[in-house]
This record gives sequence, structure tokens and C-alpha cells, in this order.
Amino acid sequence: MTTTITLTGAGGQIGYALLFRIAAGDLLGPEEKVRLRLLEIPQGLGAAEGAALELQDGAFGLLEQVEVTDDPAVGFDGADLALLVGARPRGPGMERGDLLAANAGIFGPQGAAIAAHAADGVRVTVVGNPANTNALIAAASADGVPAERFSALTRLDENRARAQLAQTLAVPVDTVRRVPIWGNHSATQFPDVSHATVAGRPVTEALETIVGDVSVWLDETFIPRVAKRGAEIIAVRGSSSVASAANATIEHVRDWVHGTDDWTSAGVVSHGEYGVPEGLISSFPVRAVDGEWRIVEGLEVSEWARSRIDASVAELTEEREAVRALGML
Ligand code: NAD
Ligand code: LMR
Repeated sequence: MTTTITLTGAGGQIGYALLFRIAAGDLLGPEEKVRLRLLEIPQGLGAAEGAALELQDGAFGLLEQVEVTDDPAVGFDGADLALLVGARPRGPGMERGDLLAANAGIFGPQGAAIAAHAADGVRVTVVGNPANTNALIAAASADGVPAERFSALTRLDENRARAQLAQTLAVPVDTVRRVPIWGNHSATQFPDVSHATVAGRPVTEALETIVGDVSVWLDETFIPRVAKRGAEIIAVRGSSSVASAANATIEHVRDWVHGTDDWTSAGVVSHGEYGVPEGLISSFPVRAVDGEWRIVEGLEVSEWARSRIDASVAELTEEREAVRALGML
């Protein structure tokens, strides 16, 4: 079988980190052939074409075809998977919300082009920031494509949260599980350890002996560290995260297609779960079953967690209002 994958922003940094892993089979496994469509704007075509030449030189057995274009009709033609990475990244001192207006104009037309040209079962992952609201705009513009087929990347935040916990507890990161992200991929996000386990034991219990007052540590150290990790990376390396973002994108899409054996996190459309207003693309604890994201329901949410979730969801609601005011919804 062959899967057609459209990558927007293919000439950019994350694009470059993604392409070779996709061609090597990291996304869909060693049996599935891939056809790549690299969509760029005219200024990015040279970089995307260069990447296409290098893909050829990689002599990847799974790679059937690579097409580079700046025409969304060609770029999304027959796409089974669309990775919407192309956007303007933030620089030092900017919040992700500052990008709303700059990027709103990209995701509406791309949503419409997906509806018109992609394969019937297309699944869309939005990485470009502000990812949740860009996914909302794309979904709203994709007439006839169910909103459930659009998701926003928050797997990087979850990976960051698990890595911070593993470092604090001095355990292998794989032993830390069930650390969902709620809300927005922004500084208001809520990385939730309430149900997390380390080698089967509650994380909160394991933290007690190491950090003392766990609630203070969560409020003052853990949550800000995870939520502001994107800004930390920008400050240290001078531009936003690349390889870790590409890695999280691979994990997100692979899980969506192949299924999960436990919870993970993704920005998905709300049907009112956990009081999140209907229609918002919010991060939730999810499983992937039969190619669909399913929100993990019935979790106990403490008053403290509730206020954290509400704060991030309020920001998503404000972003939706701002986009409405721009006439993009
Ligand atoms: P980059 O500037 O290196 O690349 C972006 C590319 O997108 C450029 O080549 C540009 O020409 C292209 N582009 C711009 N508009 C386009 C359009 N309309 N169609 C197709 N291509 C277009 O940026 P990057 O470092 O690759 O980051 C890409 C995006 O990913 C940014 O918005 C960044 O903030 C975001 N990001 C998200 C996460 C996450 O966890 N959700 C993590 C890291 C980065
Ligand atoms: C990240 O989390 O690294 C990205 O969203 C980039 C950013 O602007 O923080």
C-alpha cells in the first residue's frame, strides 16, 4: 500500500527534520510506501526542492514519489495525511498568540483546499502555531470533512512533561506514563500529573520524598517549566524547537494511524467533554482507536485542576473570538 502525505512548510526547519524520518519508515512502518507532496510558498520552494533532491539521494526504498509545489490544489491532491507545519514561527519575546493574525490567513485556504482535493479519509495534524486555533480555522474551512479529522500537536508538551518528571525522579522516561496536557499549546497549558504513574506507582506519591510539598513544586516549578519550555528553547538556541517537534509529530501521527496502548495527548475537537465549549480544539487525554482519537472520559478532576483547565480553555475561547473578529470563522 502507498500513503500520500502532504507536508506544508517542507522547506522549513521542522520540515527538514521530518522528511527523512518519514521516508525511512518511522511514521508508518517498514512496509508502507509513501508518496510525498511538499507544499511551500514561492520563497520556500528552493529549500523544499533541495530537500527533494536529498530525499532522492537517500535512496529510500519506501519513497515512491516526491512532488514540490506552491499550489495547494496540487499539494493536497489525494492526501491521506496532511501535516500542516508551514507557518510563521515566533521569535524571542513573542507569545504564540501574537501569531494569530499572521497565520489565520494561511489555514483557512488550506482547509478549503483539503476539502476540495484530499482523499476522503484525510487526517490533518496541525503543528504550525498557534496550533489549536489554526486547526480550528482549517477545520471550519474544510466543508464536508468532519472536524474529528483535524488535530493539533500537543505531544511535544507531553514529552517535555514526562522528561521533566523522569529527570526529577531519576527514572527512565519510559516508566513515566499518563501525563496528559489539557487546553492550549501555549503558556496556559496544563500538564496534569493527577493520574500519572511511574513504574505503576502514583507520580505524586513518588515526588513527595524528593520535592517536599508536591503542590508547591507543581505550581512553581513543574508547570511553568513545561509550559514555557518552547520559550526556553527559543532563548537558548535562537529559534524554536525543531527535532523534538518533528519527533513529537511522528509519534502523534503514528499513534493516530496505528493506535495507542495507553493515554496520550492531542488537540482535538470538543463535544463538551469536561466542560470544554463545543467546537474548540483543545488538548485532552486521548487514546487512538481504529484510526480515531477518543477522549478519555470519566476522569476525576480536582478543583485545582479544574481552575487550570478553565484558564487554558478561556484562552482558546479568546483566540476563537479574535479569529471571528478577523472574519476568519
Ligand atoms: P520555519 O520558518 O523554519 O519553516 C516554516 C516554513 O513554512 C517556511 O519554509 C515557510 O516558507 C513555510 N510556509 C509559510 N507559509 C506557508 C504556507 N502558506 N504554505 C506552505 N508553507 C508555508 O519554521 P519551523 O521551525 O519549521 O516551524 C514551523 C511552525 O511550527 C511554526 O509555526 C512553529 O511555531 C511551529 N511549532 C509548533 C510546535 C508544536 O508543538 N505545536 C513545536 C515547534 C514549532
Ligand atoms: C514549541 O513549543 O517549542 C513551539 O510551539 C515553538 C514555540 O513558539 O514555542
